[in-house]
Amino acid sequence: MSAQKLPMLPPDVELETKTVLKQLAKANRALAELKGFADTIPNKHILINAVMINEAKDSSALENIVTTHDDLYKALSEASGASPAAKEVVSYRTALWHGYELVKAQDILTTNMIVEIQVIIEKNRAGIRKLPGTVLRNERTGETVYTPPAGEAEIRELLSNLEKYINEDYDDLDPLIKLAVIHYQFESIHPFYDGNGRTGRIINVLYLVLKELLDSPILYLSSYIIRNKSAYYRLLQEVRTQENWEEWLVYILTGIEETAEETLRLVKRINTEVEAMSTEIKERLPKIYSKELLDLLFYEFYTKIVYLEKGLAVTRKTAVNYLSSLEKEGFLTSEKIGKERIYQNKRLYDLVKYDH
Ligand SMILES: Nc1ncnc2c1ncn2[C@@H]1O[C@H](COP(=O)(O)OP(=O)(O)OP(=O)(O)O)[C@@H](O)[C@H]1O
Ligand SMILES: [Mg+2]
Repeated sequence: MSAQKLPMLPPDVELETKTVLKQLAKANRALAELKGFADTIPNKHILINAVMINEAKDSSALENIVTTHDDLYKALSEASGASPAAKEVVSYRTALWHGYELVKAQDILTTNMIVEIQVIIEKNRAGIRKLPGTVLRNERTGETVYTPPAGEAEIRELLSNLEKYINEDYDDLDPLIKLAVIHYQFESIHPFYDGNGRTGRIINVLYLVLKELLDSPILYLSSYIIRNKSAYYRLLQEVRTQENWEEWLVYILTGIEETAEETLRLVKRINTEVEAMSTEIKERLPKIYSKELLDLLFYEFYTKIVYLEKGLAVTRKTAVNYLSSLEKEGFLTSEKIGKERIYQNKRLYDLVKYDH
């Protein structure tokens, strides 16, 4: 393998071919529908958290960090006994939230932010690659297919070019096409020793938020990539070796279309469930119902006595009473994990789990 230099952006070819534009229209339509619906939902946190947990699980699964929802639930509630894999998935989710908050607050996506995100995923401070020796191999044969740029100076130069491409709209390419270009380029720069795939998948959603194609970070390609994994690796490689941009762009745009449709279905189901539970609690437990209580029940998949105490500013005794009533009426199921009693919102949990 001769080490060819990775070209800077923008690509020096016509990307918006007829085939690409056709798929682009479909992707944009599906995405706009998702955004439109999500925008009408009052409590965004519920939505984001529920969608994000599946993404954290899928994206980590691509890296062979495999866990179950039950295990994850333990890690989320900080109960003891969660597996290392589940803890990694929780870190991935933390990284996603952190990136989202940075982009929302600063309206820009920088190299420094990307480095910060990768630190949270990998839980080490190795940062941008300094030592040579990183190669990408064919998973099956072990053969080296690509040697990414080496040396911190060159990597930083490429990243700064990428940063400009992300933040400055100096060409009038559609943002979804740019997303596919950015993903290819980021993975090809491969700036870190590890975690490049996961960081790159987070950049995708942050870019959608940055360009205001989505308000909440709820569109993720990981499950699509899992389903179409060999094409994913093949096409990354063919952009480099054959300038096969067209197929790569269509691949990513199809992923956006399919995933937007799937996510819209999930989001609708979550919304229906929140509303159903709201009505039922009002009917069956009118004395304890409040909007704040409902929000707390959907904040995560579980809740604890202390969360109610704090969130509703009530005494421990009252919090315990509320939770016991909710459990008796079948809205929650509880389990003692370690020293603490954890109350699970089983309906939300099942919805997210079995949708999968
Ligand atoms: N031939 C290739 N050209 C460019 N990028 C590639 C190629 N093959 C794989 N990649 C990218 O490298 C990523 C894997 O890199 P790395 O192991 O650093 O990331 P990860 O997050 O640990 O792994 P994963 O993506 O498997 O979860 C892949 O997800 C893919 O995006
Ligand atoms: Mg890896």
